[in-house]
Amino acid sequence: MTDQKKNDIAFDALLTEEREFPPSSSFTAKANISDDSIYEIARKDPEGYWASWAEQLDWETPWTKILEWDPPHAKWFVGGRLNASYNCLDRHLDKNGEKTAIIWEGEPGDTRRYTYRELHAEVSRFANGLKKLGVELGDRVAIYLPLIPEAVIAMLACARIGAVHSVVFGGFSAESLRDRIQDAEAKILITATSGYRRGNPVPLKKVGDAAVEECPSITNVVVVMRRAAAEEAEETINMHPGRDVWYHDVIRSAEEHCPPTWVDSEQMLYTLYTSGTTGKPKGIIHTTGGYLTGCYATTKWVFDLKPDDIFWCTADIGWVTGHSYVVYGPLANCATVLIYEGAPDWPKKDRMWELVEKYGVTIFYTAPTAIRAFMKWGHHLPDGHKLDSLRLLGSVGEPINPEAWIWYHKYIGGERCPIVDTWWQTETGAIMITPLPGIVATRPGSATRPFPGIEAEILNDAGERTPVGGGYLALTRPWPSMLRGIYRDPERYEAQYWSKWKGIYFTGDGAKRDENGYFWLLGRVDDVINVAGHRIGTMEVESALVDHQSVAEAAVVGISHEIKGTAIAAFVIIKESAREAAQKDPVAFENELKNHVATKIGAIARPEKILITADLPKTRSGKIMRRLLRDIAEGRRLGDVTTLADPTVVASLKERYEDEG
Ligand code: PRX
Repeated sequence: MTDQKKNDIAFDALLTEEREFPPSSSFTAKANISDDSIYEIARKDPEGYWASWAEQLDWETPWTKILEWDPPHAKWFVGGRLNASYNCLDRHLDKNGEKTAIIWEGEPGDTRRYTYRELHAEVSRFANGLKKLGVELGDRVAIYLPLIPEAVIAMLACARIGAVHSVVFGGFSAESLRDRIQDAEAKILITATSGYRRGNPVPLKKVGDAAVEECPSITNVVVVMRRAAAEEAEETINMHPGRDVWYHDVIRSAEEHCPPTWVDSEQMLYTLYTSGTTGKPKGIIHTTGGYLTGCYATTKWVFDLKPDDIFWCTADIGWVTGHSYVVYGPLANCATVLIYEGAPDWPKKDRMWELVEKYGVTIFYTAPTAIRAFMKWGHHLPDGHKLDSLRLLGSVGEPINPEAWIWYHKYIGGERCPIVDTWWQTETGAIMITPLPGIVATRPGSATRPFPGIEAEILNDAGERTPVGGGYLALTRPWPSMLRGIYRDPERYEAQYWSKWKGIYFTGDGAKRDENGYFWLLGRVDDVINVAGHRIGTMEVESALVDHQSVAEAAVVGISHEIKGTAIAAFVIIKESAREAAQKDPVAFENELKNHVATKIGAIARPEKILITADLPKTRSGKIMRRLLRDIAEGRRLGDVTTLADPTVVASLKERYEDEG
């Protein structure tokens, strides 16, 4: 409840946000959806409404029942058979075979384009190649690639033959990759020689090799040669005989004709690992028919996607945003998608705006953390580029602060582009709360209303509904793109999402609804930290710290950060044996701990602050008092405290907080 109290305070500031931005009449006139009666239509008959979306996909066998809901297990479009890659590729070929599907730019400036026909051919070849390597329906394939076209090709090739992809973000460490491969028991790993980040090649193959050493399920590693610079072709890559194969060899020897494998609507399309409150990351399961329906519908209406749009979602393929809004949503809609491999500030801080101008991007979807960085770098950078091709902007991953919203609106959107602040999760598969840009007036900081066909409520612990006010955000009706489970862990699926209230999905987020029915997201209410829009479990970072030889105990909390929104602060009790080293060179010691976490999990989990302490404040039942730690880490009560060596400080604070309740 303490978190709730804190959130309410944060919300008071937002309440003063009264600026409203109704859609312009010119936007509404051309919008894909402009009649707000759709909300009521969907509310009255959600199943019929979702079926009307599913009908816009191509099915080999029609479904016999729209929804089978046996809480918490849902089946959508029961009995239907389809193929996701067919829906993203084949069905467009007659009319749009020569349309550009993917425009890709690598960080060093190399570019490639694929028409739908070319993409279809490459996906088919690779799908045949995977079959030759023994991949069958339901087998898991791990994908650990930079943001290059082969990442999309690999995903669609898996989908084509009914294999389950498990994409692991290229920034994750060997251990994180290993854990995910082991959990999914993947048969194949697809990786690349390297990717580019801020001018440096990132040695993915080496990380992959280290991971695979402890993965007996892997029979082959497919390696994409990332030829950005001539010298890289000469770089010696250690190819493991009998196990490693070059992607280009697989493609070269494969046939182009590969009929899609028709799968059941409920066939698993992919697993994607994400952090939860306890234990290791969990493999979220998405299936085919419902997931594709959700991605297709939201892409069309939330982004108001039109045939001649150039759609750029800046997310990496390693996150759900990349799955739903780089690959499945846009390609099922026959869009032209821009993909950029590298960092936004390389070689200069205007790279994104250069790309928008160069390719005439019309729809731009990014994260608040990026917007805050752009803000910091200054509006002279976007001002130096022609951005008038843009007609719609989106935000995702964390709450957007009104200041960043207004900056985005003014300097990127030229005060003419609607902004869609989209709330959703890996688990929801597709956007859940969002403005429809031709209908809903936006307010900076609010994700506004549930997408038609989605029902969201603010509930308290007892499951009572709060029409206006704050509480837990819940989704009260099943939706087609909902997760179907956690890979190999049905109990955790029930416990994590469905045990708080019966038959109602618990999001793990706090939110408030105002008198207009608008939702304002307030952040996580559990032990998950949203760092720069990416979920990190406090438990994972704590285990990584305790894994270091000098650390006895650790507690991790999220603290406010100018760019990342939230950053990680770690309170660490060190072992007696490490005391001397810590005192001698505290900076080096702290860096060593930070690097240890980055090596164990990946750079995104690297703590911003390490606070060495002699004690950790715990409740009588032994639960760490995270709110108190957050206050200390942010210096709210103690000024700029960097080291908490005196146990009495914690003890006295603990007492004070306990008194305050
Ligand atoms: O806390 C919410 C936040 O991100 C969480 C989901 O993280 P993940 O599964 O990694 O997916 C991120 C991309 C969909 C949510 O529980 N979140 C996401 N979008 C928003 C948001 N918080 C506020 N506003 C948003 N628009």
